[in-house]
Amino acid sequence: MADGKPSKGSSGRSYRTGAGLTKTPRKVKGRKESSRRWIQRQLNDPFVAEAKSRGFRSRAALKLEQIDQKHKLLFPDAKVLDLGCAPGGWLQYASRRIGLEDGRGVLVGIDLLETEPVMGASILKGDINDDAMMAEMIRLIDGKADLVLSDMAADTTGHRPTDHIRTTLLLDLALDMAQRVLTPGGAFLAKCFRGGAERDALELMRRDFATVRHVKPAASRQESVESYVLATGFRGDRPEE
Ligand SMILES: C[S@@+](CC[C@H](N)C(=O)[O-])C[C@H]1O[C@@H](n2cnc3c(N)ncnc32)[C@H](O)[C@@H]1O
Repeated sequence: MADGKPSKGSSGRSYRTGAGLTKTPRKVKGRKESSRRWIQRQLNDPFVAEAKSRGFRSRAALKLEQIDQKHKLLFPDAKVLDLGCAPGGWLQYASRRIGLEDGRGVLVGIDLLETEPVMGASILKGDINDDAMMAEMIRLIDGKADLVLSDMAADTTGHRPTDHIRTTLLLDLALDMAQRVLTPGGAFLAKCFRGGAERDALELMRRDFATVRHVKPAASRQESVESYVLATGFRGDRPEE
């Protein structure tokens, strides 16, 4: 926090990162300004430190934890799909909550990138937009899921409208998957950059789910356009189109 005020991590601990305590990256000469800023932010981000100290592969795990603590999405024995799962922070958190290491629940993840294994989880490397991958995910989850998660984000171009449309396309694909596999009462949580193009997806969600809301966990940087959409109470009776 640049203002020096303490902020609370997911575990409730307070951090102070104000003047005098701010870490500055070493050996960053010659890097692009945006990359220098990213490194500086990482070094001074309390959520990065907390995620690391708790053994999570990404600070993103804390976002899911914060949303889950508030909205009670994960439960023992749940069947969960994680779209855009690399490097695996959400998989790690979901695995703990559903009891995967004790042989409970089902967890299936997919990403374009390689993801380190998570004990008990099935992880695919591929594109959610590929029909064969989609069929394989549905097979691995045995046709039905209680929760579909998507933290998918496209590589950013720096051109905000283009980035918004690309991420919204991923939201559409994730929603399509959720509509195929969710059990009645199931939930869908997805990254959603607000900017207008996501309106159609939100409309479909309002049709198919009892409740649709935007959520922004504390671990999601306040200055970022990132937010999440959470749809709960899947109706399970998708009308014929
Ligand atoms: C923010 S990261 C996910 C972080 C993850 N939730 C975690 O906790 O570690 C977004 C991921 O979405 C993936 N992604 C983007 N487009 C995708 C696609 N079409 N199919 C599968 N994964 C995709 C990216 O490769 C990237 O790893």
